[in-house]
Amino acid sequence: MSCVVAVVGATGLVGREMLRTLQLRRFPASRVVALASARSAGSLVPYGDAAIEVRQATPERFAGVDIALFSAGKAAARELAPQAAARGAVVIDNSSAWRMDPEVPLVVPEVNPADGRRRPKGIIANPNCSTIQMVVALKPIHNLARIEHIVVSTYQAASGKGYAAVQELHAQERALVEGRAIEHRVLPGRLAQNLLMDWPAGTGGYSEEELKMVGETRKIMGDERIGVSPTTVRVPVATGHSEALHVRCARPVSAAEAVAALRGAPGVRLDERPYEPGAHPQPVHCVGEDWVYVGRVRDDLAVPGAINLWVVADNLRKGAALNAVQIAELVLGEV
Ligand SMILES: NC(=O)c1ccc[n+]([C@@H]2O[C@H](COP(=O)([O-])OP(=O)(O)OC[C@H]3O[C@@H](n4cnc5c(N)ncnc54)[C@H](OP(=O)(O)O)[C@@H]3O)[C@@H](O)[C@H]2O)c1
Repeated sequence: MSCVVAVVGATGLVGREMLRTLQLRRFPASRVVALASARSAGSLVPYGDAAIEVRQATPERFAGVDIALFSAGKAAARELAPQAAARGAVVIDNSSAWRMDPEVPLVVPEVNPADGRRRPKGIIANPNCSTIQMVVALKPIHNLARIEHIVVSTYQAASGKGYAAVQELHAQERALVEGRAIEHRVLPGRLAQNLLMDWPAGTGGYSEEELKMVGETRKIMGDERIGVSPTTVRVPVATGHSEALHVRCARPVSAAEAVAALRGAPGVRLDERPYEPGAHPQPVHCVGEDWVYVGRVRDDLAVPGAINLWVVADNLRKGAALNAVQIAELVLGEV
């Protein structure tokens, strides 16, 4: 079966990665429509060896579209996703606009693929990038012994905030080397050789990003009892999110048992090297890769039966574009 695919936000970091991923996975699209804001109408984006002209995303553009992959931010998703769905497209949205809507499934194909089948609004949500890689790594452990509590600290790349944030990080790095004043517009301060808490305030002293990790993890895992204690941090890395996780289950789980569960788990590439400086999953090695890299699985020193692990993935690929295209493949596979 072939289908018409629209990519909304096609000029952005995630949109471009979506176009690349559709090609790489030989998605059977009979036609690909590239949409963005009025600003980039008429520009070209690469699709395989060809270039497609970008058009302004308007409701009428979705006529005849079967699957619409959205990565155009929350406001555009709120406005245009229902319009696309009303015209018969299955919308797969990367923004946070619809993720916690009870009538919108939130899907990570390695974790809860069946949830995507029930979509009363014609919309499926793609989770937050830091949540996706965490649940891919933790699902095998949840299956093993039901996770009760996760303590997660993230080390999130600038590309998680889009093209402009990456450009700003590079400009800050150049300014630093050249001894010029460091400016910021997209980021909330200096990220070059620094760390930032970079998300709007949520409630209770937590950022919106931290609260997303709590709510989305429970929804994807289908278990409201899971406790998540998050701290999210932006680091001066262009692409590749890293996470340090502490996990406690309903019964004691050893590192050896967790390693056995993670070997060959869907989407996981397990690094079993013993600790040595530099011998661990790293952002630079995951760029352009599909896997969620898991390493440093070890028994906790203070909490008997709890484990710690280190998880790294390409936030633009598995954290966004690949996950969305995998959902599109599930939709296409429905009879
Ligand atoms: N980066 C990540 O790791 C990541 C991970 C998961 C989810 N997401 C989500 O994916 C979305 C895009 O992220 P990004 O990193 O690709 O951002 P980006 O590089 O800043 O690109 C934003 C894209 O959205 C388009 N856009 C903005 N307003 C629009 C509108 N009103 N109508 C149509 N298109 C519009 C832009 O078009 P113009 O070029 O015309 O302005 C551009 O193509 C965001 O919702 C983000 O939260 C990102």
